[in-house]
Amino acid sequence: MFTTALALNEKTEQGDLPLDLFAAIENLKKELNAVILAHYYQEPDIQDIADFIGDSLQLAKAAAHTNADVIVFAGVHFMAETAKILNPDKMVLLPDLNAGCSLADSCPKEAFAAFKAAHPNHLVVSYINCSAEIKAMSDIICTSSNAVKIVQQIPKDQPIIFAPDRNLGRYVMEKTGRDLVLWEGSCVVHETFSEKKIVQLKIAHPEAEAIAHPECETSVLRHASFIGSTAALLKYCQQSSSQEFIVATEPGIIHQMQKQAPDKRFIPAPPLNNCACNECPFMRLNTLEKLYYVMKNRSPEIILPENIRRAALRPIQRMLEMSL
Ligand code: 13P
Ligand code: SF4
Repeated sequence: MFTTALALNEKTEQGDLPLDLFAAIENLKKELNAVILAHYYQEPDIQDIADFIGDSLQLAKAAAHTNADVIVFAGVHFMAETAKILNPDKMVLLPDLNAGCSLADSCPKEAFAAFKAAHPNHLVVSYINCSAEIKAMSDIICTSSNAVKIVQQIPKDQPIIFAPDRNLGRYVMEKTGRDLVLWEGSCVVHETFSEKKIVQLKIAHPEAEAIAHPECETSVLRHASFIGSTAALLKYCQQSSSQEFIVATEPGIIHQMQKQAPDKRFIPAPPLNNCACNECPFMRLNTLEKLYYVMKNRSPEIILPENIRRAALRPIQRMLEMSL
Protein backbone atom coordinates (compact mmCIF):
# COMPACT_ATOMS: atom_id res chain seq x y z
CA MET A 1 0.00 0.00 0.00
CA PHE A 2 1.27 3.50 -0.74
CA THR A 3 1.67 5.80 2.20
CA THR A 4 0.66 9.12 0.66
CA ALA A 5 -2.02 9.15 3.35
CA LEU A 6 0.64 9.60 6.03
CA ALA A 7 1.47 13.02 4.68
CA LEU A 8 -2.12 14.15 5.06
CA ASN A 9 -2.88 15.88 8.29
CA GLU A 10 -4.58 18.96 7.10
CA LYS A 11 -7.77 20.91 7.50
CA THR A 12 -10.02 20.86 4.45
CA GLU A 13 -13.45 22.34 3.78
CA GLN A 14 -14.96 19.09 5.00
CA GLY A 15 -12.95 18.93 8.26
CA ASP A 16 -9.75 17.37 9.55
CA LEU A 17 -8.19 14.53 7.66
CA PRO A 18 -6.74 11.84 9.93
CA LEU A 19 -3.02 11.16 9.83
CA ASP A 20 -3.46 7.60 8.61
CA LEU A 21 -6.29 7.52 6.08
CA PHE A 22 -5.99 3.79 5.49
CA ALA A 23 -6.54 3.01 9.19
CA ALA A 24 -9.37 5.55 9.41
CA ILE A 25 -11.14 3.99 6.41
CA GLU A 26 -10.70 0.49 7.89
CA ASN A 27 -12.30 1.72 11.14
CA LEU A 28 -15.23 3.30 9.30
CA LYS A 29 -15.70 0.07 7.36
CA LYS A 30 -16.22 -1.84 10.63
CA GLU A 31 -18.38 0.90 12.15
CA LEU A 32 -20.72 0.98 9.14
CA ASN A 33 -20.54 -2.73 8.30
CA ALA A 34 -19.56 -1.46 4.87
CA VAL A 35 -18.01 -3.12 1.85
CA ILE A 36 -15.81 -1.15 -0.56
CA LEU A 37 -16.25 -2.21 -4.18
CA ALA A 38 -13.74 -0.73 -6.64
CA HIS A 39 -13.36 -0.78 -10.40
CA TYR A 40 -9.97 -1.51 -11.97
CA TYR A 41 -9.78 2.09 -13.23
CA GLN A 42 -9.56 3.53 -9.72
CA GLU A 43 -6.28 4.98 -8.46
CA PRO A 44 -3.90 2.40 -6.87
CA ASP A 45 -4.54 3.46 -3.25
CA ILE A 46 -8.28 2.91 -3.66
CA GLN A 47 -7.73 -0.48 -5.33
CA ASP A 48 -5.48 -1.47 -2.41
CA ILE A 49 -8.02 -0.64 0.30
CA ALA A 50 -11.04 -2.12 -1.53
CA ASP A 51 -12.64 -5.36 -0.35
CA PHE A 52 -13.40 -6.35 -3.90
CA ILE A 53 -11.95 -5.15 -7.23
CA GLY A 54 -13.54 -6.09 -10.52
CA ASP A 55 -14.93 -5.23 -13.92
CA SER A 56 -18.52 -4.00 -14.30
CA LEU A 57 -20.02 -7.50 -14.36
CA GLN A 58 -18.02 -8.76 -11.38
CA LEU A 59 -18.94 -5.63 -9.43
CA ALA A 60 -22.65 -5.98 -10.25
CA LYS A 61 -22.48 -9.60 -9.07
CA ALA A 62 -20.61 -8.60 -5.90
CA ALA A 63 -23.24 -5.92 -5.22
CA ALA A 64 -26.00 -8.49 -5.72
CA HIS A 65 -24.49 -10.86 -3.16
CA THR A 66 -23.08 -8.66 -0.40
CA ASN A 67 -24.25 -8.97 3.22
CA ALA A 68 -22.90 -5.54 4.14
CA ASP A 69 -25.30 -2.78 5.27
CA VAL A 70 -23.48 -0.10 3.31
CA ILE A 71 -21.95 -0.37 -0.18
CA VAL A 72 -19.22 2.16 -0.85
CA PHE A 73 -18.79 2.24 -4.61
CA ALA A 74 -15.39 3.37 -5.82
CA GLY A 75 -16.31 3.66 -9.47
CA VAL A 76 -18.60 5.82 -11.56
CA HIS A 77 -22.24 6.82 -11.07
CA PHE A 78 -23.87 4.15 -13.26
CA MET A 79 -22.02 1.43 -11.32
CA ALA A 80 -23.17 2.74 -7.94
CA GLU A 81 -26.67 3.16 -9.37
CA THR A 82 -26.65 -0.50 -10.45
CA ALA A 83 -25.69 -1.49 -6.90
CA LYS A 84 -28.62 0.56 -5.58
CA ILE A 85 -31.03 -0.96 -8.11
CA LEU A 86 -30.02 -4.39 -6.80
CA ASN A 87 -30.06 -3.31 -3.13
CA PRO A 88 -32.91 -0.89 -2.44
CA ASP A 89 -32.63 -1.40 1.34
CA LYS A 90 -28.90 -0.76 1.57
CA MET A 91 -27.13 2.57 1.69
CA VAL A 92 -25.02 3.02 -1.47
CA LEU A 93 -22.34 5.71 -1.28
CA LEU A 94 -20.30 7.22 -4.13
CA PRO A 95 -17.22 9.29 -3.17
CA ASP A 96 -17.95 11.94 -5.83
CA LEU A 97 -21.41 12.35 -7.38
CA ASN A 98 -19.81 14.00 -10.42
CA ALA A 99 -18.07 10.74 -11.32
CA GLY A 100 -20.20 10.20 -14.42
CA CYS A 101 -19.42 8.51 -17.74
CA SER A 102 -19.28 9.97 -21.25
CA LEU A 103 -21.03 6.89 -22.63
CA ALA A 104 -23.92 7.20 -20.19
CA ASP A 105 -24.11 10.94 -20.97
CA SER A 106 -24.18 10.23 -24.69
CA CYS A 107 -27.59 8.59 -24.31
CA PRO A 108 -30.17 11.04 -22.92
CA LYS A 109 -33.53 9.49 -22.02
CA GLU A 110 -35.81 11.64 -24.25
CA ALA A 111 -33.69 11.07 -27.37
CA PHE A 112 -33.43 7.37 -26.60
CA ALA A 113 -37.20 7.07 -26.12
CA ALA A 114 -37.66 8.58 -29.61
CA PHE A 115 -35.01 6.23 -31.07
CA LYS A 116 -36.77 3.26 -29.52
CA ALA A 117 -40.14 4.42 -30.84
CA ALA A 118 -38.62 4.69 -34.34
CA HIS A 119 -37.62 1.00 -34.14
CA PRO A 120 -40.73 -0.87 -33.04
CA ASN A 121 -40.43 -4.64 -32.46
CA HIS A 122 -36.74 -4.28 -31.59
CA LEU A 123 -35.38 -5.80 -28.41
CA VAL A 124 -33.23 -3.28 -26.50
CA VAL A 125 -29.86 -4.54 -25.27
CA SER A 126 -28.09 -1.81 -23.32
CA TYR A 127 -24.54 -1.73 -22.13
CA ILE A 128 -24.45 -1.27 -18.36
CA ASN A 129 -22.69 2.10 -18.95
CA CYS A 130 -26.00 3.97 -19.09
CA SER A 131 -28.33 5.72 -16.67
CA ALA A 132 -31.05 3.99 -14.64
CA GLU A 133 -33.64 5.65 -16.93
CA ILE A 134 -32.08 4.01 -20.01
CA LYS A 135 -31.89 0.68 -18.17
CA ALA A 136 -35.58 1.08 -17.35
CA MET A 137 -36.27 1.37 -21.11
CA SER A 138 -34.17 -1.73 -21.92
CA ASP A 139 -34.97 -5.43 -22.18
CA ILE A 140 -31.54 -6.81 -21.28
CA ILE A 141 -28.42 -5.19 -19.85
CA CYS A 142 -24.95 -6.41 -20.81
CA THR A 143 -21.37 -5.57 -19.92
CA SER A 144 -18.24 -5.77 -22.01
CA SER A 145 -17.60 -9.28 -20.68
CA ASN A 146 -20.96 -10.80 -21.57
CA ALA A 147 -22.28 -8.71 -24.51
CA VAL A 148 -21.41 -11.34 -27.15
CA LYS A 149 -22.79 -14.21 -25.03
CA ILE A 150 -26.05 -12.35 -24.42
CA VAL A 151 -26.66 -11.37 -28.05
CA GLN A 152 -25.91 -14.97 -29.10
CA GLN A 153 -28.79 -16.16 -26.88
CA ILE A 154 -31.36 -13.95 -28.62
CA PRO A 155 -33.32 -15.66 -31.46
CA LYS A 156 -31.79 -14.84 -34.86
CA ASP A 157 -34.99 -13.34 -36.29
CA GLN A 158 -35.37 -10.88 -33.40
CA PRO A 159 -34.22 -7.36 -34.40
CA ILE A 160 -32.04 -5.70 -31.75
CA ILE A 161 -31.16 -2.14 -30.73
CA PHE A 162 -27.74 -2.00 -29.08
CA ALA A 163 -26.97 1.08 -26.96
CA PRO A 164 -25.14 3.24 -26.09
CA ASP A 165 -21.61 2.24 -27.23
CA ARG A 166 -21.18 2.04 -31.00
CA ASN A 167 -17.70 0.50 -30.72
CA LEU A 168 -18.78 -2.34 -28.44
CA GLY A 169 -21.84 -2.70 -30.69
CA ARG A 170 -19.68 -3.07 -33.80
CA TYR A 171 -17.48 -5.58 -32.02
CA VAL A 172 -20.55 -7.64 -31.02
CA MET A 173 -21.82 -7.47 -34.63
CA GLU A 174 -18.52 -8.82 -35.87
CA LYS A 175 -18.39 -11.60 -33.27
CA THR A 176 -22.01 -12.73 -33.62
CA GLY A 177 -22.65 -11.99 -37.30
CA ARG A 178 -25.83 -10.20 -36.18
CA ASP A 179 -27.06 -6.91 -37.61
CA LEU A 180 -27.63 -4.55 -34.67
CA VAL A 181 -29.19 -1.09 -34.75
CA LEU A 182 -26.55 0.97 -32.97
CA TRP A 183 -26.93 4.05 -30.81
CA GLU A 184 -24.01 6.34 -31.72
CA GLY A 185 -22.44 6.77 -28.28
CA SER A 186 -18.79 6.41 -27.34
CA CYS A 187 -16.29 6.61 -24.49
CA VAL A 188 -13.99 9.66 -24.37
CA VAL A 189 -11.16 7.53 -23.04
CA HIS A 190 -11.29 4.58 -25.45
CA GLU A 191 -11.70 6.80 -28.50
CA THR A 192 -8.53 8.67 -27.62
CA PHE A 193 -6.09 5.88 -28.47
CA SER A 194 -4.02 6.48 -31.55
CA GLU A 195 -3.67 3.70 -34.11
CA LYS A 196 -0.48 5.28 -35.43
CA LYS A 197 1.14 5.40 -31.99
CA ILE A 198 0.17 1.80 -31.25
CA VAL A 199 1.78 0.69 -34.53
CA GLN A 200 4.91 2.71 -33.65
CA LEU A 201 5.01 1.03 -30.22
CA LYS A 202 4.65 -2.40 -31.80
CA ILE A 203 7.62 -1.64 -34.04
CA ALA A 204 9.67 -0.43 -31.07
CA HIS A 205 8.63 -3.48 -28.98
CA PRO A 206 8.35 -6.36 -31.48
CA GLU A 207 7.87 -8.93 -28.69
CA ALA A 208 4.98 -7.03 -27.10
CA GLU A 209 1.37 -8.15 -27.54
CA ALA A 210 -1.22 -5.42 -28.02
CA ILE A 211 -4.43 -6.02 -26.03
CA ALA A 212 -7.55 -3.84 -26.08
CA HIS A 213 -10.94 -3.16 -24.51
CA PRO A 214 -13.87 -3.50 -26.99
CA GLU A 215 -14.84 0.14 -26.39
CA CYS A 216 -11.84 1.06 -28.61
CA GLU A 217 -12.39 1.96 -32.25
CA THR A 218 -12.03 -0.73 -34.95
CA SER A 219 -8.77 0.93 -36.13
CA VAL A 220 -7.24 0.13 -32.72
CA LEU A 221 -8.91 -3.25 -32.20
CA ARG A 222 -7.46 -4.60 -35.43
CA HIS A 223 -3.95 -4.40 -33.91
CA ALA A 224 -4.90 -6.32 -30.77
CA SER A 225 -4.11 -10.00 -30.33
CA PHE A 226 -6.68 -10.13 -27.52
CA ILE A 227 -9.85 -8.07 -26.93
CA GLY A 228 -11.80 -8.23 -23.68
CA SER A 229 -13.26 -6.56 -20.63
CA THR A 230 -10.90 -5.26 -17.97
CA ALA A 231 -11.16 -8.55 -16.04
CA ALA A 232 -10.55 -10.57 -19.22
CA LEU A 233 -7.50 -8.45 -20.12
CA LEU A 234 -6.09 -8.98 -16.65
CA LYS A 235 -6.57 -12.74 -16.85
CA TYR A 236 -5.08 -12.86 -20.35
CA CYS A 237 -1.88 -11.09 -19.25
CA GLN A 238 -1.41 -13.57 -16.42
CA GLN A 239 -1.91 -16.60 -18.66
CA SER A 240 -0.07 -15.47 -21.79
CA SER A 241 3.58 -16.47 -22.15
CA SER A 242 4.38 -12.98 -23.48
CA GLN A 243 6.48 -10.77 -21.26
CA GLU A 244 5.41 -7.40 -22.68
CA PHE A 245 1.98 -5.93 -23.39
CA ILE A 246 0.70 -2.73 -24.97
CA VAL A 247 -2.51 -2.08 -23.04
CA ALA A 248 -5.27 -0.16 -24.87
CA THR A 249 -7.63 0.64 -22.02
CA GLU A 250 -7.63 2.98 -19.03
CA PRO A 251 -4.19 2.58 -17.42
CA GLY A 252 -5.61 2.12 -13.88
CA ILE A 253 -5.81 -1.60 -14.71
CA ILE A 254 -2.01 -1.75 -14.97
CA HIS A 255 -1.77 -1.56 -11.16
CA GLN A 256 -3.42 -5.01 -10.91
CA MET A 257 -1.58 -6.37 -13.96
CA GLN A 258 1.73 -5.42 -12.40
CA LYS A 259 0.73 -6.88 -9.02
CA GLN A 260 -0.30 -10.19 -10.57
CA ALA A 261 2.68 -10.43 -12.91
CA PRO A 262 5.50 -8.35 -11.38
CA ASP A 263 8.10 -9.54 -13.90
CA LYS A 264 6.08 -8.62 -16.98
CA ARG A 265 6.10 -5.19 -18.62
CA PHE A 266 2.90 -3.26 -19.30
CA ILE A 267 3.01 -0.29 -21.66
CA PRO A 268 -0.05 1.98 -21.64
CA ALA A 269 -1.32 2.66 -25.17
CA PRO A 270 -0.71 6.32 -25.88
CA PRO A 271 -3.49 8.81 -26.60
CA LEU A 272 -3.65 10.88 -29.80
CA ASN A 273 -2.31 14.03 -28.17
CA ASN A 274 0.36 14.30 -25.51
CA CYS A 275 -2.25 14.51 -22.77
CA ALA A 276 -3.32 12.29 -19.87
CA CYS A 277 -6.63 11.71 -21.65
CA ASN A 278 -6.22 7.93 -21.60
CA GLU A 279 -7.12 8.29 -17.89
CA CYS A 280 -10.87 8.36 -17.28
CA PRO A 281 -11.59 11.86 -15.94
CA PHE A 282 -14.70 10.56 -14.17
CA MET A 283 -13.14 7.54 -12.46
CA ARG A 284 -10.24 9.70 -11.34
CA LEU A 285 -12.54 12.13 -9.50
CA ASN A 286 -12.61 9.57 -6.69
CA THR A 287 -9.69 9.93 -4.26
CA LEU A 288 -8.72 8.27 -1.00
CA GLU A 289 -9.67 11.49 0.80
CA LYS A 290 -13.15 11.48 -0.74
CA LEU A 291 -13.50 7.80 0.12
CA TYR A 292 -12.83 8.70 3.75
CA TYR A 293 -15.27 11.62 3.72
CA VAL A 294 -18.10 9.73 2.03
CA MET A 295 -17.90 7.06 4.75
CA LYS A 296 -17.53 9.56 7.57
CA ASN A 297 -20.45 11.73 6.35
CA ARG A 298 -22.57 8.86 4.89
CA SER A 299 -22.95 11.18 1.92
CA PRO A 300 -23.20 11.55 -1.05
CA GLU A 301 -25.67 8.70 -1.24
CA ILE A 302 -27.34 7.23 -4.35
CA ILE A 303 -31.11 7.74 -4.22
CA LEU A 304 -33.44 6.50 -6.97
CA PRO A 305 -37.17 6.88 -7.62
CA GLU A 306 -38.74 3.47 -6.87
CA ASN A 307 -40.57 3.21 -10.21
CA ILE A 308 -37.31 3.71 -12.15
CA ARG A 309 -35.43 1.32 -9.85
CA ARG A 310 -38.00 -1.44 -10.34
CA ALA A 311 -38.08 -1.00 -14.12
CA ALA A 312 -34.26 -0.97 -14.29
CA LEU A 313 -33.98 -4.08 -12.10
CA ARG A 314 -35.73 -6.39 -14.58
CA PRO A 315 -33.16 -6.11 -17.43
CA ILE A 316 -30.27 -6.35 -14.95
CA GLN A 317 -31.72 -9.55 -13.51
CA ARG A 318 -32.12 -10.86 -17.04
CA MET A 319 -28.44 -10.18 -17.67
CA LEU A 320 -27.42 -11.98 -14.47
CA GLU A 321 -29.53 -15.00 -15.47
CA MET A 322 -28.14 -15.02 -19.01
CA SER A 323 -24.50 -14.74 -17.96
CA LEU A 324 -24.33 -17.58 -15.44
P1 13P B 1 -15.55 -3.24 -17.93
O1 13P B 1 -16.79 -3.96 -18.35
O2 13P B 1 -14.33 -3.84 -18.48
O3 13P B 1 -15.53 -3.06 -16.45
O4 13P B 1 -15.62 -1.79 -18.57
C1 13P B 1 -16.19 -0.73 -17.89
C2 13P B 1 -15.83 0.56 -18.46
O5 13P B 1 -16.31 1.58 -18.07
C3 13P B 1 -14.89 0.56 -19.54
O6 13P B 1 -14.66 1.85 -19.92
FE1 SF4 C 1 -17.26 5.78 -19.01
FE2 SF4 C 1 -15.18 5.58 -20.61
FE3 SF4 C 1 -14.83 6.29 -18.10
FE4 SF4 C 1 -15.53 3.78 -18.71
S1 SF4 C 1 -13.62 4.80 -19.22
S2 SF4 C 1 -16.38 5.03 -17.11
S3 SF4 C 1 -16.87 4.14 -20.46
S4 SF4 C 1 -15.94 7.45 -19.66
